[in-house]
Amino acid sequence: MRRVLVLVVLVVLGADVYAAQDACPQVCSCRAGVVDCSARGLTTDKLPSSFPTDTIELRLHDNLLTSLPAGLLDPLPALERVSLHENHWTCDCAVLYLREWLLKQHSNALIRNVSCASPPNQQGRLVAYLDEEEVLSSCHSWLCDLAIASQISLFVFIVVQVLLLAAVIHFLRRFDRLTCDARRSVHNDEASEEAVLLKDRDS
Ligand SMILES: *[C@@H]1O[C@H](CO)[C@@H](O)[C@H](O)[C@H]1NC(C)=O
Repeated sequence: MRRVLVLVVLVVLGADVYAAQDACPQVCSCRAGVVDCSARGLTTDKLPSSFPTDTIELRLHDNLLTSLPAGLLDPLPALERVSLHENHWTCDCAVLYLREWLLKQHSNALIRNVSCASPPNQQGRLVAYLDEEEVLSSCHSWLCDLAIASQISLFVFIVVQVLLLAAVIHFLRRFDRLTCDARRSVHNDEASEEAVLLKDRDS
């Protein structure tokens, strides 16, 4: 009984996920494999995170897109046409996925339609033909900052650990010496007491 219940739940969940994947995004209109999200004032943040798996044509032109989220178009095996013109492509790190994707397309018209709107020194350049090194060098990513910050904190942490270890070793040595001294003096005391006792008995 329990097993059947689990199975039912799994099937329902699976169907839900499947339906979610294949549903038409709310901001777009879908008909016969054509997913039209053009002229919706879409920014990259407001862009649907997925499109129906059977999308053949995806219209994203005439929006406010600055980049495409990495991997957005990868799970669309039937995709044949994408329109991307009339957007605000920003040619920094975030444009690299779009560049890679464009380079894999065989449509010169499409490639010619996607150009940088900013930064000023890249304005008008075709996204597909941007120099990857140049784009990478222009990006000061927070990930980089985070990596440097974590390296520095790791270094500080190690230094503190080494200092603590040194202090512990120092105190252990000192303690050892003190106990040695104490033991020796106790031993000496006992010896002298014994000597006194012996002397008393003799006399
Ligand atoms: C390129 O842009 C023009 C409008 O500027 C549009 O009519 C055409 O369909 C676009 N072509 C592609 C392949 O996106």
